[in-house]
Amino acid sequence: MPTDRFGRDINYLRLSVIDHCNLRCVYCMPLRGLRFTPTEELLTAAELEKVVRAAVSVGFRKFRLTGGEPTLRADLLEIVERMHRVPGVDDLGITTNGILLPELAEPLRQAGLSRINIHVDSLNPERLKRVMRFGSFPQIWAGIEAAQAAGFSPIKINAVVVRDFNEHDVVDMARLTIERPWHVRFIELMPLGGGECARLSLSQYVPNPETRQRIEEALGPLVEMPQVSRSDEARNFRFENAEGVVGFISPVSEPYCGDCNRMRLTSDGKFHLCLLNDDELDVKAALRNGGGEAAVARILLAAVAQKPTGHRLEQGVSTERRAMFQIGG
Ligand code: 5AD
Ligand code: SF4
Repeated sequence: MPTDRFGRDINYLRLSVIDHCNLRCVYCMPLRGLRFTPTEELLTAAELEKVVRAAVSVGFRKFRLTGGEPTLRADLLEIVERMHRVPGVDDLGITTNGILLPELAEPLRQAGLSRINIHVDSLNPERLKRVMRFGSFPQIWAGIEAAQAAGFSPIKINAVVVRDFNEHDVVDMARLTIERPWHVRFIELMPLGGGECARLSLSQYVPNPETRQRIEEALGPLVEMPQVSRSDEARNFRFENAEGVVGFISPVSEPYCGDCNRMRLTSDGKFHLCLLNDDELDVKAALRNGGGEAAVARILLAAVAQKPTGHRLEQGVSTERRAMFQIGG
């Protein structure tokens, strides 16, 4: 397994397969002025497979497809099939807004996908529309139900908490875990990309201790669960006798850089060494200049070797040149 200069085992690759999205969450995508990567600049399914084979050859085992919105890739099923066939890909997940899951959940399961995380910020249709703008609660809910019907387990639901938009909706979302075996996880806003979304992410930030307090005041104490894996970015809790799990992902109030096991691939084919940093290594150029798996593996090992640690959000330093939708969270 590749180990970086801080002793971290890096074995989890997140691949952003597209930077388009059918929604425009207030903290992620501005309504105007976006420029997306043209299709021919995205890595192809065959190129993605090559990256995954190279990653497995140096010890990566866990993979996740992200976006933008990964279900907008017309060849998503082919990508999943190709990745699933690679020996050593033990764990293959996707992060999606769920809108297209009614059609895709079952075929994705058949193609070999093992996990689905669905992003939804409120159970209240009007407030959901304020945060997720083009989002529709009934559509996303149908997507969650389709993922469940297709047999994905556990269903993980991610909510980004945004002051004056949905900070009170966390109670209804956490309540879902009492009778359902779902994981509902609350994510702190991160300021990426330097533009209007980064500014909103700073001004509307809600620390997770506040979210936890709001939930416990309404629904009773949360009991912390033993950590299953050090690199689980969430701290997980349960209500007494509940079926599911309430998780808190707190990159700002409680940084977990020391346990980070991730490498990221951007939609335009760069290894992005750390979510909250600008360092990147180009892999697409190597692929398009005839480089094979071995060349990709060398770049990936260099990316691991150069991976930074310890974000500097409190000093106002973050990713400036990239937005979340290009890196995939
Ligand atoms: N801060 C935290 N999480 C974010 N996401 C998108 N933008 C932000 C942000 N500014 C999350 C979404 C989704 C994933 C792609 O990243 O909720 O789960
Ligand atoms: Fe789309 Fe996800 Fe960004 Fe929302 S957070 S705009 S659903 S990529």
